[in-house]
Amino acid sequence: MWVTMKRLDGTLVAEKIRETLRDKVSILARRKPLLVIVWVGTNRASETYIRAKEKACHGVGIAFALIHLNESITSSALLEHIRALNQRPAVDAILVQLPLPPHIDTDRAIQTIDPTKDVDGLHPINQGKLLLGDPSGFCPCTPAGILALLSHYKIDPQGKHVVIAGRSNIVGKPLAALLMQKRAGCNATVTLIHSASTHIEHLTKEADILIIAIGKRHWLKAPMVKEGAIVIDVGINQDEKPNIVGDVDFDNVAPKCAWITPVPGGVGPMTIAMLMHNTVRSYENRLL
Ligand code: GUN
Repeated sequence: MWVTMKRLDGTLVAEKIRETLRDKVSILARRKPLLVIVWVGTNRASETYIRAKEKACHGVGIAFALIHLNESITSSALLEHIRALNQRPAVDAILVQLPLPPHIDTDRAIQTIDPTKDVDGLHPINQGKLLLGDPSGFCPCTPAGILALLSHYKIDPQGKHVVIAGRSNIVGKPLAALLMQKRAGCNATVTLIHSASTHIEHLTKEADILIIAIGKRHWLKAPMVKEGAIVIDVGINQDEKPNIVGDVDFDNVAPKCAWITPVPGGVGPMTIAMLMHNTVRSYENRLL
């Protein structure tokens, strides 16, 4: 029973966030907010994520459109699609689903999105604002979702040693920038470890809060975790069955933790809730 008690339930918290957004949109609604996803190719995992985002939009009262482009599209044709969306006043939010095929310049595609519509928070302007502590930008959804989840359970990172594993532009780097900020809900001491780090187990064992975002299933093992730590699992991997499993060896790690996120049902739903949050914010900004 106590194992169930200490789960950080992302499904539940995400539902609460969506309810609040739904109420907000229903009051504001002169028109519905509009999120457009641009998807290139046929990656199966991307399709699953896109469908989940579409479902969340419908639940909140956000209009959703998908621009599905052929795998063979040229970089310049893709950029033209993005520029056209930038120009359309009714489009509040643009998300280019990643990964893009290898022949496409991903950085260039992201840099072409209007930063005021970049609800993924990946444009250099938004990443720069995050690093500077300027709240006018969009924060990437997974880092924002992790902070919202901790906040819901009254877990304050202030003064805690947070060890993040993984240095991606979409999770590890923006999460480190966020947690080190001088403001309530942050103020953490941050260590970021990655594939070239040494003495990894020594560092993970020092952590009060461990956040794993490296994409290797069951990477975090029980001996790497301090008794009473808080463990956040960002991983979404498939095992041989195929079931969805995280980056944490949950069954062996959970008994040592004060709190832990399950996979699925932890960080994933929070990421999508934050995408809804950013979309509604972009819509509000545009109404003003
Ligand atoms: N692919 C997997 N997750 C994400 C995400 O949050 N945003 C984008 N753009 N692509 C993704």
